[in-house]
Amino acid sequence: MNREINGEILNIPEHVAVIMDGNGRWAKKRFMPRNYGHAQGAKALEAICENCDKLGIKYLTVYAFSTENWKRSVEEVTGIMNLFRKYLVDSVERSNNANMKVNLIGKREGLPGDIVQKMDDLERLTSGNTGLQFHIAINYGGRDEIVRAVRKITEDVKNGKLISGDIDEVLFSNYLDTAGIPDPDLLIRTSGEERTSNFLPWQLAYSEFYFTDTLWPDFDMDSLIEAVRYYNKRERRFGDAK
Ligand code: IPE
Ligand code: IPE
Ligand code: MG
Repeated sequence: MNREINGEILNIPEHVAVIMDGNGRWAKKRFMPRNYGHAQGAKALEAICENCDKLGIKYLTVYAFSTENWKRSVEEVTGIMNLFRKYLVDSVERSNNANMKVNLIGKREGLPGDIVQKMDDLERLTSGNTGLQFHIAINYGGRDEIVRAVRKITEDVKNGKLISGDIDEVLFSNYLDTAGIPDPDLLIRTSGEERTSNFLPWQLAYSEFYFTDTLWPDFDMDSLIEAVRYYNKRERRFGDAK
């Protein structure tokens, strides 16, 4: 979809995925604790939802906590979990006011029970919204997602719902947490790191990758437009010869 943004015609990606990285370094630069950086990161997350909606992006998927992030100190993990508690509750009203539908992807197992409850509530209470479809990856790891999908498929083969010949790329995609969502067109990673850190390995197969040195709490509308501009310069070939 083409859209005029400040006098410039831009092709807007339908689905944007974001690895929100750099909260710790943002805080360190200010001689503040890492969890202060995460709190500022949560504010930047609220802003990017509004900004994606304004630009006409239909799907936004963000990486908030990986299956590997449990390796961090108890203090940091507790701080992040407390932020999720507040964020998930506050998001109900904010999302409904913005007509935003929220889904949580990742492994529910291993998360505190009250957080899982809040995730389910947020999904249920925003399920009728028709605006931005917003996916938050919490306790998400791409390899874990693939293993969980394989387990569900083998269960369905065992109970006779499927035969192995039914398994193709489309069926497999429908067993992933992102079932029904188109693959991301554009992946953004902040903070200068240029790796995917186990985020959406299946779904990013043909996405364009945009890396920026901006630290996540500083990522604003201008940063998002810059990423979309980069996306506009790419020629997507999907294996074809042009
Ligand atoms: C990203 O910021 C947030 C999470 C991984 C939860 P970091 O906490 O990884 O920030 P840096 O990379 O240490 O700066
Ligand atoms: C990726 O960032 C995970 C999230 C942004 C939630 P990390 O900071 O955990 O990734 P690495 O350790 O630098 O690869
Ligand atoms: Mg990091």
